[in-house]
Amino acid sequence: MKMQAQDFLAMKAVKPIAMLTAYTCPVARGLEKAGIPVILVGDTVGMVEMGFESTRDVTIEHMEYHIGAVRRGAPDTHIIGDLPYNTDRNPEIALVNARRLIAAGADSVKLEGPKVDVIEHLVSQGIPVVGHTGLTPQTAKNFAKVGRTESDAKRIKEESVAIQKAGAFMLVLEHIPYELANVITATLAVPTIGIGAGPNCDGQVLVINDALGLGDYWPPFSKQYAHVSQSILEVAKLFSKEVESMEFPNNIIQFSSSGKR
Ligand code: KIV
Repeated sequence: MKMQAQDFLAMKAVKPIAMLTAYTCPVARGLEKAGIPVILVGDTVGMVEMGFESTRDVTIEHMEYHIGAVRRGAPDTHIIGDLPYNTDRNPEIALVNARRLIAAGADSVKLEGPKVDVIEHLVSQGIPVVGHTGLTPQTAKNFAKVGRTESDAKRIKEESVAIQKAGAFMLVLEHIPYELANVITATLAVPTIGIGAGPNCDGQVLVINDALGLGDYWPPFSKQYAHVSQSILEVAKLFSKEVESMEFPNNIIQFSSSGKR
């Protein structure tokens, strides 16, 4: 059964929440089959799938396209859709765009930073919101860890409290010192989901391409559970060799007469 905001709230301090990003139908299908309770269609899609230098190039139309694909692959999984850069610049514009993501298949939306008025407005209109603080890539100058100075840590903690107070049901903490994540996790009633924020958050999220080893750059806090880039290379080389030697398609089973695989 698809989980909703209250189910994730009930998991806090009871069961760690495993979140992965997905951008395509077959990957989403695999995550749902594996029992992943929540999929984030993040604007990281711009960097890891579309080849952009920054998430700032992602548009609302890109997000609608990817959310639709993920929903078709994972009909029974909670999907969070990221509001891309500048689409949440004020409460009214954010509402229009959040509704587009919901119509595309998202169950909730995520937005970066302490945009308290925007979160309040979306929640008041019945849209569940996930917050995101610490490193916020849409506006960050680089991907260095944040919150290392006392004043920065204080700011991030205050932002976290404000985001919860505004009505967010979950908070992503990205690339902050572990001790700061621990303090925020202990302070908030809503679950925290860490990415580069240490082991004591209420859950963890990874970018699926990083977890699959499908890329040429992995953040230091990520883990490669597979080496899909290497498999692509091997498959492409083998295919090319077999076509040139005419071994393929002579050695494969034919399609059935129905045309189905
Ligand atoms: O866009 C994204 O995938 C994210 C995660 C890195 C948390 O925001």
